[in-house]
Amino acid sequence: MKRKAIYPGSFDPPTNGHLDLIQRGSKIFDELVVAVLGNPEKDPLFSVADRRKMLEAMTADFDNVSVDTFDGLTVEYALRVGASAVLRGIRAISDYEYELQMALMNRKLQPGLETVFMMPAEKYSYLSSRLVREVAQLGGSIDCLVPSLVAQKLREKMDVAHKFAVDLAASGEAEVTAVSKTKPRKKKS
Ligand code: PNS
Repeated sequence: MKRKAIYPGSFDPPTNGHLDLIQRGSKIFDELVVAVLGNPEKDPLFSVADRRKMLEAMTADFDNVSVDTFDGLTVEYALRVGASAVLRGIRAISDYEYELQMALMNRKLQPGLETVFMMPAEKYSYLSSRLVREVAQLGGSIDCLVPSLVAQKLREKMDVAHKFAVDLAASGEAEVTAVSKTKPRKKKS
């Protein structure tokens, strides 16, 4: 029987840590589906379509890896695509509590589905999408943190955001503060 797993996540944006885990997962599973959650509650930097495209490009060389998007429960998605395992990364002990809670809830919902934890390389143990977004938004270098195509997309986003802030400032409605994503600070009156 083929061992099929899903690797669900937000991937906003995908990082070198994600890629490292995909590489490791692709070696132990026959088939790995990287599943991007289309989470309407969060305010993502990248659209689900953009994240999917970036992941597709990043994983193009892996024959047994595909990329998909999903909504709703992870366990239901896993069932739908015929996966028997959920792959998740654990970087540090701080990840463990949340991941354990999620794995046990998923087991409660779908007892036949196993969660498999893998560790990315130590050099990525501090890396998260949230920090990458923050560093990029504040103008720091993200070149060693994400694949070059993601770095390029991030720079494009920041340029658009900066232009938006400058235009708004020029119109007198706000001050340019940092390369804020969408919300330039309102001018104090
Ligand atoms: O990359 P993230 O944001 O840590 O991924 C979290 C994700 C997408 C795996 C988790 O939020 C999830 O599974 N969401 C889908 C909804 C769901 O199944 N919730 C119950 C989880 S116990």
